[in-house]
Amino acid sequence: MDKLVLQGGLRLRGEIPISGAKNAALPILCASLLAADALEVDNVPALHDVATMQRLLAQMGVKVARDGGGLRLEASQVDRLEAPYDLVKTMRASILVLGPMVARFGTARVSLPGGCAIGARPVDQHIKGLQALGADIRIEHGYIVATARRLKGTRIVTDLVTVTGTENLMMAATLAEGETVIENAAREPEVVDLANCLNAMGARVNGAGTDRIVVRGVERLHGARFRVMADRVETGTFLTAVAAAGGDVVLTHAQPDTLEAVIDKLGESGARVEVHTDRIRIVARRRPRAVNLRTAPYPAFPTDMQAQFMALNAIAEGTGVVTETIFENRFMHAQELMRLGARIEIEGNTAVVKGVRNLTGATVMATDLRASASLVVAGLVADGETVIDRIYHLDRGYEALEAKLSAVGARIERRR
Ligand code: EPZ
Repeated sequence: MDKLVLQGGLRLRGEIPISGAKNAALPILCASLLAADALEVDNVPALHDVATMQRLLAQMGVKVARDGGGLRLEASQVDRLEAPYDLVKTMRASILVLGPMVARFGTARVSLPGGCAIGARPVDQHIKGLQALGADIRIEHGYIVATARRLKGTRIVTDLVTVTGTENLMMAATLAEGETVIENAAREPEVVDLANCLNAMGARVNGAGTDRIVVRGVERLHGARFRVMADRVETGTFLTAVAAAGGDVVLTHAQPDTLEAVIDKLGESGARVEVHTDRIRIVARRRPRAVNLRTAPYPAFPTDMQAQFMALNAIAEGTGVVTETIFENRFMHAQELMRLGARIEIEGNTAVVKGVRNLTGATVMATDLRASASLVVAGLVADGETVIDRIYHLDRGYEALEAKLSAVGARIERRR
């Protein structure tokens, strides 16, 4: 099993290019199921989760080919309308084939995702919304079995804000008869990116980015060429690494307007952040100040940046209170940070982090994607050597992480 070995204490200087957004690319790849013509997607990040999604679509009969930095997907001969457990259990985002399959083919058999490290993460809202659109759904032997003649537009109010739930229902509604209104919709930028791709394919989606999305159904969608947005969580992760380790780094190919809450918090911690159209410069010269944060749906502070900020607070001046409101078990990185010397007290969904001047390197274990990122941030500042085990979690969501950090002066290498 691969591990990362880091030597802490080095300031970071230079430039890091940001890759395409994992959480936009995954639903956009699934959108290819909605048309018989080819969807060409640029700026697709080379990630483990993207490879899994490619495998899932290919085993359904979608022709998937790399062309340059992008992917070409053609769903003219889909012959297996099923997402099997062995693939879905490794990546919950597989649920995103459900909506497109029901909408275009009238049938789908998708394994229930099952549990996940950070929480139960049920998909009841996805199912409820598709039923409202007229699908008949049964749960059989751990699979969602859905059938529908033509979906019929309706008004859906989700019980809670769900990102992939909004995306699944928005995709399904593009081919439904009549108008669909999704109330309480997720406002994440990745939802907007997907809506823009669907509209490029001939869909009629309005209101993406607000909590009320209106979709006017059409008979069919056509092919398109679409470029995936920059990854705001990768961007936030590198910004946090510099705020913790110190230095002067410019992130290029970025989209600063998609992570304003994170940039505000970094300013509060004492870093200087300069925002330009497609780049962000961060300068951190002094020990960061502790910040309080509370995760919530976009545009509030993103849950996917919570673990990284806990690492920043671990070495900050003062005490920072971190409250996680989205997932019920997203503090697993705290135990590992404490092995490095962090002082963290967990009370329910709140972590009180008392900053220490130094962390000391140790062997730690990645437990989930963003927890791994948190350990990288901590390893960059801990005295001595930190070894992070099970970094397959990290490879799911970060493209060439050690190369990007080495390019700005970090001592980080991968060992088999
Ligand atoms: C998306 O997951 C992201 N993944 C997650 O990123 C991100 O953490 C999450 O949104 C929140 O922003 C992708 O986009 C592929 P939710 P998703 O449905 O859609 C509950 C990462 O690190 N819920 O918005 O699965 C759920 O349990 C990953 O890149 C229901 O109860 O999250 C959670 O508590 C991790 N029923 C809350 O809602 C449902 O039907 C928000 O979940 C759906 C969700």
